[in-house]
Order: sequence, then C-alpha cells, then structure tokens
Amino acid sequence: MALLGANGSGKSTLARMLNGLLLPARGTVTVDGLATSDEAQRHQLRRRVQMIFQNPENQAVGLTPAEDIAFGLVNIGWPRQQLAARIDWALEQVGLAAKRDRPVHALSGGEQQKLATAACLALGPRWLVLDEATAMLDPAARWQFRQTLDTIRRQERLGVIWITHHLEEVLGADRIVLMDGGRVHAVGRPGDVLGQPQLLEQCGVELPYLPALARELREAGLDVPSFPTIDELVTTLCR
Ligand SMILES: Nc1ncnc2c1ncn2[C@@H]1O[C@H](COP(=O)(O)OP(=O)(O)OP(=O)(O)O)[C@@H](O)[C@H]1O
Ligand SMILES: [Mg+2]
Repeated sequence: MALLGANGSGKSTLARMLNGLLLPARGTVTVDGLATSDEAQRHQLRRRVQMIFQNPENQAVGLTPAEDIAFGLVNIGWPRQQLAARIDWALEQVGLAAKRDRPVHALSGGEQQKLATAACLALGPRWLVLDEATAMLDPAARWQFRQTLDTIRRQERLGVIWITHHLEEVLGADRIVLMDGGRVHAVGRPGDVLGQPQLLEQCGVELPYLPALARELREAGLDVPSFPTIDELVTTLCR
C-alpha cells in the first residue's frame, strides 16, 4: 500500500500511529487486533509493525551488518545457537550476504537501507512501514531498493506500507492512499487514482513522468495509452 500526499499531509503521523510511537488524542488504533494504547501488548505490536526511516545512517546500531541484526534478535530473546542462521537468512533476503562482516559505515546509502530492512525482517514482522526510505538515495539505488522490497513482499507474508513523494515508485502497488490535511482523502488502485489528475492536484501529488507525457501527447492528438509502458511509448513515438 502506498501512502502519498503533500508535505505536512500527515503521512508520517499516521505511520507512527501504526506501531504506537504516537498515540492518538482521540479514538484508537488497532493493528491485527492489538490496540496501540495497550502497554501490555505494545512489545508484541512493535515486533509486528517494523518501521524504516529516511536517513540510512541513523538506523544501524552494530558495527557490522551481522552485529546490527544480532542486536535486535538478542533483544527479543532469539535462541543464541540459531542467531547466525537467522542473520544469514535476513542478509540473503536483501542481497547483502557478501557484506556480512564489513563495517556498516563503509556501506552505501542503498546498502544501509537494505541492512535496515534485513534487521526488520529478521524479527519476523507482519507489516513493514517505510517512511520515505528512498528519499536520500540516488535514482539508481532508489530503484534497486524498491525492487528488493518488491521481491521480499512476494516471498514473505508481509504487508508493505510505502510512504513516498515519488508516485512512479508505487505504480505497482495494490492500493494507493492519498492523504490531505491529516485525513485519508482517497483510496484506490494506481490506475484509478492516476486517472484523476484533479484529485492528485488537490492532494499536491505530481503525476509521474510517463503518464504525464502520455497525457500531453494524447492532448496533442496522438493515440497513446493513458498509462503506457516505456516500450509502448517508444513504439508510438517512432511510428
Ligand atoms: N490527523 C491529524 N490531526 C492533527 N494533526 C495532524 C494530523 N496528521 C498530521 N498532523 C500534524 O501535521 C504535521 C505534519 O504531519 P506529518 O509530519 O505527518 O506530515 P507528512 O505527510 O509526513 O509530511 P512530509 O511529507 O513533509 O514528511 C505534524 O505536526 C502533525 O502533528
Ligand atoms: Mg513525513
């Protein structure tokens, strides 16, 4: 699920409500039957709902990826003799096995975000909330990180909530939620939401490059699909 909206529309606030980092002034937030306000359940809730933030450098606590993942596992009482296997599994998931014992500070930003993801996955969450986790990555690393997450969400029983300002990152999402003024403004499939430029404009979200270009070409009288793949667009333009 992608969470989109202008600056200050309440995306991070909602994200922090999901694992009890923030508690609502009114009403309740319940995740898988666990109320975030229930202190007795909060430990379990935090394990189920893992969060990844924007700054890759702020998230690791260990000196090496292996140590970093071990820290979280020891915290939840993972059996000592099974630590190494779990660490290796988690690093495999994100494609960082080769960097297992390298210094964390020598990893690239994209690798550090993958490590943060591995550290979360090791704990066996049900939900992964990524709050602009790609914001500090260059376009190539951003794309690669998203691909990694896509693969993982297909393999694991894991719901991914992806907060971003980049609509093109979430064209493959099952659902898009548009936030505005601290409220959910609209929910729909990417195709439905993208087909409503006015709605996007209201919520301060820009149409990605390809559909925006396709729209202008259509307006200029060319026969282009509304949401072309890059190959379709190239074929049309060459013709
Ligand atoms: N439902 C709400 N009710 C009251 N205040 C809210 C609500 N949602 C958000 N706010 C307030 O609005 C401000 C901005 O919210 P938030 O940081 O969640 O926005 P954001 O969408 O994550 O913005 P950005 O894109 O800049 O990260 C915060 O100070 C927050 O306390
Ligand atoms: Mg935010």
